[in-house]
Amino acid sequence: MEVIIQPSQETASVLAARMIAKVIRSKPEAVLGLATGSTPLGLYRELIRMYREEALDFSAVTTFNLDEYVGLGPSHPASYHRFMHENLFSQINVRPELTHIPDGLAPDVPASCEEYEAKIRDAGGIDIQILGIGSDGHIGFNEPISSLASRTRIKTLTPRTRADNARYFDSPDDVPHHVITMGIGSIMDAREVLLLGFGAGKADALAAAIEGPVSAQVPASVLQLHPKAHVLLDEGSASKLQRSEYYRYVYDNKPVWQLVS
Ligand code: PGA
Repeated sequence: MEVIIQPSQETASVLAARMIAKVIRSKPEAVLGLATGSTPLGLYRELIRMYREEALDFSAVTTFNLDEYVGLGPSHPASYHRFMHENLFSQINVRPELTHIPDGLAPDVPASCEEYEAKIRDAGGIDIQILGIGSDGHIGFNEPISSLASRTRIKTLTPRTRADNARYFDSPDDVPHHVITMGIGSIMDAREVLLLGFGAGKADALAAAIEGPVSAQVPASVLQLHPKAHVLLDEGSASKLQRSEYYRYVYDNKPVWQLVS
């Protein structure tokens, strides 16, 4: 696991975008795993800027999103379909037919989850997966005690996650109880993983994920077992790490050939 502590969310987001751009430039038909929420917004803004100003080309890129609320259609203002359309897809040259998000209105949820897994496999697997982290340590919507081997399936949100996400809905009662999420096993299959976490509110979850034991109690801790996981933090989210000086030292002394330009 590589832990990169940046001065701000903005600088971390720019660095994350450069890491994604590097994957796309070396493999134009790259498969990206995408996340929603407030965390990746700066990263998406930077990717849009790179598309407009640096000719970053998404025309052959395939995307798979982590999750969607059960019961929300693509036009619902709080749906992740809508979020992705507004915050990324409508502003770059990705081909709509190559974007994938779990279907919150699927009449047969287990069948549609199996189909989603099959589509990821058929696309050749995910080259780089973007992740946020919940204040309870979740990745995707894999809440604590999710199986570390889980695949795409229905999950029940914790009351804490429903409260965290209530800001996107008219009323807290409107937050769905159920979601479809890629599993932890699905996420671990990605060839590279980029976990972003910003602000002091994520500091406890990130300390547990990075420095605590690998445990289904803290789903993000499974990334300790991933061969190519990067964690991008700002000062606030890094504030509870015991070994932050070492992480800074490692990054400051990174071999030049490993640096992302
Ligand atoms: P946030 O959510 O980016 O809105 O903080 C992250 C998550 O729940 O994974």
